[in-house]
Amino acid sequence: NDKPSELKPPQMPAASQPRSRNSSVNGCISAQDFDFGRILGEGSYSTVMLARHRSTGKEYAIKVLDKGHLKRNNKLATALAEKNTLVRLGAGHPGIVHLHWTFQDEWSLFFVLDLARNGEIQSRISRLGSLSLACSRYYTAQLIDALEYMHNKGVIHRDLKPENLLLDDNFRLKLTDFGTGKILSSGVERSKTWVGTAQYISPELLDSSETSKSSDLWSLGCILFQMVSGRFAFQGLSEYLTWQKIKQLDYSFPEGFDEQAKDLVQKLLVRNPAERLGAGAPGSQNDMQALRAHPFLSTIDWKTLWTSPAPPLQ
Ligand code: ADE
Repeated sequence: NDKPSELKPPQMPAASQPRSRNSSVNGCISAQDFDFGRILGEGSYSTVMLARHRSTGKEYAIKVLDKGHLKRNNKLATALAEKNTLVRLGAGHPGIVHLHWTFQDEWSLFFVLDLARNGEIQSRISRLGSLSLACSRYYTAQLIDALEYMHNKGVIHRDLKPENLLLDDNFRLKLTDFGTGKILSSGVERSKTWVGTAQYISPELLDSSETSKSSDLWSLGCILFQMVSGRFAFQGLSEYLTWQKIKQLDYSFPEGFDEQAKDLVQKLLVRNPAERLGAGAPGSQNDMQALRAHPFLSTIDWKTLWTSPAPPLQ
């Protein structure tokens, strides 16, 4: 192992790489097959790093999870759930980060993921103040398309937010971070633990911890609001006050907010999960097709959504 030390994952002891016993899914890949580069993102239990696969030269984002830290905080099951969710989603949709391999060594779990080189939509919104209507429409459409795929596979995300919407080389959307994802066995489930981020969490999750596909539609409404206006739909001075606003549906549109976008947000930010646009069973009047048919999205060409160029980010 002649790798310069700065290219190694930072959280691993220096001597770890040559000694690491690999126990990958296919029995042959390990950290030594990659050159690790800069940190792309950091979470509470993981660090995502740029990495190049040595033999192919292909670049990936590798999520490195510290096993000791996971164990100490009872999060091993969460990491396993994330892996299972990603495996279930497979490589079948361009708008969802694909898990290529997993492996582990003594200290860490490694998830080798699609690289989304243009980072989070969140940082674009921050930098630009808000997104153009064309961009807001385009990313709403891509998110709807990815959500329908995911929901049809029985997966709900439960923590949709602009930080989890990444942009690839072509500025197309890639949904990531399934650490809070849930594989549904029936339609609605009660989760033991509260998940999600304050500003995007649905009222039913706050009230009863009930999750369904419709909770992701609520978050979509919050995200659309934020892309167009540059602000949170629900924001109080504390997390508690934010939750109060969510429960009371206490939000208002800034002046000049596009009328069609406003109509769509109003049809997503509905307290009753069953009444949100797109929440109905496939084939019913209020299914995802009805969501796609909303006037705000009338100029979207769904057939070329993942092949035609993205609108300029502005
Ligand atoms: N940050 C977190 N996940 C990432 C990914 N898959 N690609 C790029 N940056 C990321």
